[in-house]
Amino acid sequence: MSLLDILYYPDPQLRTSASEVRDVDGNVAKLVDDMFATMYEAPGIGLAATQVNVHQQVVVIDVSEENDTPLTFINPKIIVAEGMAEMQEGCLSIPGVYETIKRPSEVRIAALDREGNPFEMDADGLLAVCIQHEIDHLQGKLFVDYLSTLKRNRIRKKLEKWVRDGADLDDIPEPVSRSR
Ligand code: NI
Repeated sequence: MSLLDILYYPDPQLRTSASEVRDVDGNVAKLVDDMFATMYEAPGIGLAATQVNVHQQVVVIDVSEENDTPLTFINPKIIVAEGMAEMQEGCLSIPGVYETIKRPSEVRIAALDREGNPFEMDADGLLAVCIQHEIDHLQGKLFVDYLSTLKRNRIRKKLEKWVRDGADLDDIPEPVSRSR
């Protein structure tokens, strides 16, 4: 397994729309494994292929405390979305930034697993938020897009300065854990 480089906002590649995976082959399985390694190392609870500059519809998630519940979603689609809830979100591509975002609180997802088998899954709570956040990434959307232009511009300037200064995660004042 190898660690992949994570793109940071406002890198324009984060705005790319990912293509559907046609064939869940060994290359996709390797991408999944590398994405899990990268996500656990960060550490984060979710990662979309877009964030490692691979523009295929692949998402990995593990919202468990013990990092022992890896979930792979290939070509994920939200087929049901209900309710509404607010939760604080972070993102591995926007380190040090945490904002409260409103989204549907319960979703049903259809996707393929790491072996290419179709499955459906109901999610609520943190998992529901995380899946929606990652699917947004595959469509070139970031959680800061839900904020006001003023707030988003402030975050963009902060991140641009941080990248200019060498993108050292130790410089980020808030913890980067539990980010997606
Ligand atoms: Ni994210």
